[in-house]
Amino acid sequence: MVTIAPPVTLASLAAPKPSAKTRDAYGRAMTYLRVSLTDRCNFRCVYCMPAVGMRFQPREELLTDEELLRVVGLAAELGFTKIRLTGGEPTVRPHLVDLVRAMKAFPGIDEVAMTTNALLLGRLAGDLRAAGLDRVNISIDTLDPAKFRLMTRGGRLDLVWEGIEAAERVGLAPIKLNSVVLRGQNDHEVGELAQLTVDRPWQVRFLEIMPMEGVGAVHDEGLVTSEETQARLEARFGPLEPLPEAPGDPARAWRIQGAAGTVGFISPVSAPFCATCNRVRLTADGKLRLCLLRNDEVDLRDLMRGGADDDALRAELRAGIWRKPWGHKLSEGERDIRRGMSQIGG
Ligand code: 5AD
Ligand code: SF4
Repeated sequence: MVTIAPPVTLASLAAPKPSAKTRDAYGRAMTYLRVSLTDRCNFRCVYCMPAVGMRFQPREELLTDEELLRVVGLAAELGFTKIRLTGGEPTVRPHLVDLVRAMKAFPGIDEVAMTTNALLLGRLAGDLRAAGLDRVNISIDTLDPAKFRLMTRGGRLDLVWEGIEAAERVGLAPIKLNSVVLRGQNDHEVGELAQLTVDRPWQVRFLEIMPMEGVGAVHDEGLVTSEETQARLEARFGPLEPLPEAPGDPARAWRIQGAAGTVGFISPVSAPFCATCNRVRLTADGKLRLCLLRNDEVDLRDLMRGGADDDALRAELRAGIWRKPWGHKLSEGERDIRRGMSQIGG
């Protein structure tokens, strides 16, 4: 069968359809926008924030709700289909439930997800689900309450666990748990975390620590590669069964034999996934961050506050995406990140 491309009209050039994908110079289609709602957090995880000297941004530097939704609406027009809310801790942002509802209502946005520490999910999960939130990734590095307090610098595991149960109860599924593995802190507990997947349909994902601003030394002393974590799990559970790769998912998924859920490994340091990258980020202060690990940003906030119209903003978004860097060279020791994880959102 011969298919004939529809004629290009001026109207179709001017108003991008939600289905038109925006690509970078390497041909990667950008469909996934990670939106940091705040740089603040109710925890102080050791791999995310320095013990002292953390500076939070004054409120007027953060995007307002209107500005935030404007960017998300434009992204939807440029072919983005998935939004993930991050922080800092997204649940400390005022009006979170309303923001979720508004984002989910944009034509073209199929999925709104959130990465959270779950401390406040016990009371928020039901309203978030009702507003259209699809699912959550929850950070949890240990199942030992004392160790949890140390790694989060004060966090309460019992409340986080209630948050996880609430998320599951209201159907924020599939539940994914993220653990950053640190040598001498929780590396001997990866088996306990993986054990959770034996009779729950969850994915427990082990992350290599990245050398973000403020935690370079924690990275240098604490990095445990995915290979090492996998070997530890296989020593306990036997060979893990590899599962098919999901496109655009940085986690490589495996199953403990006979388990209900899966384990995943996210290995930005030892096995970068830049080739299939489908995402850009919006920081809480309104910069389009083109690569998590590169200091190249488009200042959408100042453009908006300077009176840019939607056409101008769309053009800036497209141009920024076009020049998205290929990726990082962490394995070669290159670091030009200049933001902490809580100022980008992972
Ligand atoms: N390296 C890797 N992951 C990190 N996270 C926070 N800081 C780091 C880091 N330096 C994780 C959190 C959360 C997600 C947003 O990023 O555990 O799951
Ligand atoms: Fe907060 Fe998440 Fe950073 Fe921990 S990792 S301090 S929970 S933003």
